[in-house]
Amino acid sequence: MIRLGIDTGGSSLKAAPVDVVRGTLASAACSFPTPMPATPAAVAQVIRQIVASYPQVEGPIGFGFPAVVKRGVARTAANVDRGWIGTDGTALVREATGRPAAFLNDADAAGIAEMRFGAGRGEEGVVMVLTLGTGIGSAIFHEGRLLPNTEFGHMEVRGMEAEHRASGRVRTAESLGWEEWAGRVNEVLARYHALLWPDLFILGGGVSENWTHFGHLLESPARIVRAQLGNDAGIIGAALATLEL
Ligand code: BGC
Repeated sequence: MIRLGIDTGGSSLKAAPVDVVRGTLASAACSFPTPMPATPAAVAQVIRQIVASYPQVEGPIGFGFPAVVKRGVARTAANVDRGWIGTDGTALVREATGRPAAFLNDADAAGIAEMRFGAGRGEEGVVMVLTLGTGIGSAIFHEGRLLPNTEFGHMEVRGMEAEHRASGRVRTAESLGWEEWAGRVNEVLARYHALLWPDLFILGGGVSENWTHFGHLLESPARIVRAQLGNDAGIIGAALATLEL
């Protein structure tokens, strides 16, 4: 079964048809720059373009977005236009495309995909999936079940929000070397570990493509592994979320 998954990031919206039985992309992903400002109307326009790019894929659409999402409605807007607060993402997709949608937090989507098809397969303890991109996204699982909308990227670490110290964007913006940046990530992991005692951290997001540069520098009492689905996790997880509709 093929479903369209969309992952909204700070710099681009990525989408692809996903084989939701195998957890793989059924054809190449497309990418559109995130509109500036990324208002709901501007993003709806991009979603229309994405759907038009895959005329062969029918059915509901999975839409991952970097916000707290409660019952289909965005409640926060940390790195996106504030017009999203209170926006019904499900209705937005329906109006833009005529299709039903599953609207969920982007990190929750990535986590769902990693747990089902990636580095979290078969993991039953407490697993924390983190996406290190424009922000830091978090998804926490216990015995494979998601606790949705955790926002650990905003936890204060050394007087600053974690995502303002240690996201992938901060590494580039502050031209941090891998050691310095990994040191910051370690501080963040230490805080998360002290409070949640996960058995496993799964680290994803764009920067995980550079795992060979920093993976060996990371430390925690919990195991730390690289996300296996890389940057596709958010797309795959969004598509998987449509199965719950
Ligand atoms: C947002 C989260 C999102 C994360 C990763 C944070 O700024 O508050 O909802 O999951 O960025 O995109």
